[in-house]
Amino acid sequence: PIMLDFLTELPKCEHHCHLEGTLSPSLLFKLAKKNSVKLPDEFPDTPEKLLLKYDNFENLDDFLKYYYVGMNVLITEDDFFELAWNYLLTAKSQGVYHLELFFDPQGHLIRSIKISFDTIINGLTRAFLKAKNELEISTKLTMCILRHLPLDSCFETINLSKKYYENGQIHGLGLDSSEKPFPPTLFKECYSEISKTFPNVGLTAHAGEEGGPDFVVDSINELKVTRIDHGVNSIKDLNLIDYLSKNQILLTVCPISNLKLQVIKNLDQLPLNEFLKYNVPFSINSDDPAYFNSYILDNYAQIQKAFNWNIETWCKIANNSINGSWIADKEKELLL
Ligand code: ADE
Ligand code: ZN
Repeated sequence: PIMLDFLTELPKCEHHCHLEGTLSPSLLFKLAKKNSVKLPDEFPDTPEKLLLKYDNFENLDDFLKYYYVGMNVLITEDDFFELAWNYLLTAKSQGVYHLELFFDPQGHLIRSIKISFDTIINGLTRAFLKAKNELEISTKLTMCILRHLPLDSCFETINLSKKYYENGQIHGLGLDSSEKPFPPTLFKECYSEISKTFPNVGLTAHAGEEGGPDFVVDSINELKVTRIDHGVNSIKDLNLIDYLSKNQILLTVCPISNLKLQVIKNLDQLPLNEFLKYNVPFSINSDDPAYFNSYILDNYAQIQKAFNWNIETWCKIANNSINGSWIADKEKELLL
């Protein structure tokens, strides 16, 4: 418990959490009822049964099936607000000071019920503003492109998103969804389309979760990302490890996600001691906390159970996580 108190108090930044992945089974059923959204026939019919299914994902794609069904219950601006606000309250209670959150606009824009980009952004932004004022939590929003959808859909979303990059409501660009069949190189023009117009945008991509270290290399070389989401398979290429270390590329590691999606069998298989040894910076994150029934502090606590690190090591991780955040130096100083 002493260590748990310490980990709660430790100033934490979260860089890898999908807002749609914070949709709890109870909120899912509540919104489905309110919005008269019909769930698939084979879908579990109570929050309790749904949670049981969540304990048995076979892999990333098996999880994604549920994730894309779940987000269909989000319809109104207030739904997006409630989703984000609930998560921000939880994050606050677990000692998080700064959050960089993902959302998947394509998952909403392609539905048969039309949801507008404004509906999504207005709801999320209202929650972020309330969090800044009432919880003293700072936030940045990163839009992810869904790699399993046709490039036309990706470009359409890129074009719709520009006004929100322009006005500062979206800060980052990421890439997520099913990894192995969809290499990063496919999305090179999507990235350059945003980065040429908005040079200060934060660029990141999911890579090296189920895919190999070559996807990490290609994300860096072709997409020009300065951060990698997951990236745990980087350890299979020591030249890459050297590059990540020299350039201080942050890996946003999601331990319990890797366990639940069967990327690893035990948490102690994560190459975190190797990353520390080679000075590769990483942060610890929840990914899809409601689907993995594990929030950010659970990730910190389970990692401590597996690795039994001392306070110095934890302070190093917390510092790396602050330094790797997309915030100004003077904001970092307040946290360090
Ligand atoms: N979308 C939500 N969570 C994801 C993950 N862990 N990997 C890829 N896409 C995702
Ligand atoms: Zn993710």
